[in-house]
Amino acid sequence: MKRIAIYNAKPGMILAKEIYNRNGRLLLRENAVLTKRWIDKLAGYGIPTVFIRSGGYNPREVVQKRVQPSSGKKAKRFYQSEIPDMIPADIREEAERAIQEIMHNVKTGRLIRTEKVKKVVEKILSQLINNVHIIGKLADIRILDDYTFAHSVNVCILSISTGVVMGYSKNRLRELGIGALLHDVGKMNIPDEILQKRGPLTEKEFEEIKRHTLLGFEMLSQYADITWNAARISLQHHECFNGSGYPWGINDKDIHEYSKIVAVSDVYDALTADRVYKNAILPYEAMEIIIASSGYQFDPEIVKLFVEHCEIYPVGSIVELNSGETGVVIDVNRGLPTRPMVQVIADIEGNELDNGPEIDLMTNPTIFVNAILSFRRTIGP
Ligand SMILES: [Fe+2]
Repeated sequence: MKRIAIYNAKPGMILAKEIYNRNGRLLLRENAVLTKRWIDKLAGYGIPTVFIRSGGYNPREVVQKRVQPSSGKKAKRFYQSEIPDMIPADIREEAERAIQEIMHNVKTGRLIRTEKVKKVVEKILSQLINNVHIIGKLADIRILDDYTFAHSVNVCILSISTGVVMGYSKNRLRELGIGALLHDVGKMNIPDEILQKRGPLTEKEFEEIKRHTLLGFEMLSQYADITWNAARISLQHHECFNGSGYPWGINDKDIHEYSKIVAVSDVYDALTADRVYKNAILPYEAMEIIIASSGYQFDPEIVKLFVEHCEIYPVGSIVELNSGETGVVIDVNRGLPTRPMVQVIADIEGNELDNGPEIDLMTNPTIFVNAILSFRRTIGP
């Protein structure tokens, strides 16, 4: 099974997983053969990726695919890569479906099944607790075609990863993960017309959106098995370090550390996510925005840690080196996100190399990444 971007899908490919729309209606079954019409339709629905059948798939393997020559000055050929996710696809899928069900329940006035939340967080935690030395940009997967669910899961993964590098105990990671997964649950009580409005919001509409923090907290604080600090994440994740946030405008000392972590994860994922109506920006560009907001919007200590450990050049990124060669990032060095391990895929002239040398930028200080050439493309409206 292989996940590919919808724009790379070709008629005749066979689906390895069913596709649902945002209302949970089945669009295409597993084993359906893609047609040109369906590919256009799925792209039109804003479904960025599909799983297709292929001969063997190793999630840690960088799958390279030749694409059109770039329009860069050297008109080099380069590769499009799939970036492996931090957690396996089946756990992500379970997590997205769980948060979908939770949000649906909230919307229809039913109770949240907290045991389900705990189960999902436990699974994510078990994947990250021993593995994390980086806070990774996640492979951009939308198993369900709804941004909210994937975003909630991403914020949960990013926040737990941050907690792991901060040395949190398992119990604290659990609390953080539960609160992070549910941080925007209050949005389910805000009218869809406002949430999905594409144009600028009126002042009144923005005031309404702000209420998702209070509504979420009111809801979550009623559950005996959601701790006070976990519930407070929904209340405080839009508060700012300098007191300019909402709903209360509290500052540094009054904002709980969990909420500060989720605030950074929330903005980072929102900036780097592919959404139908906006192009995502690259991780290092998002990082610059986060750094610029350090001390204003975000706690500088958390930003420092996030930057030190964030995977700025995710595995699979195609990069241009200062030597003029083109490479693909094949590994990330712990604590030194700007010095990844790179395999050269094209020489200075742009000639492709089948088995180019591997360069560890940590031990080759004179070589550095000049630019990211590509790691994915977004789907336009
Ligand atoms: Fe929010």
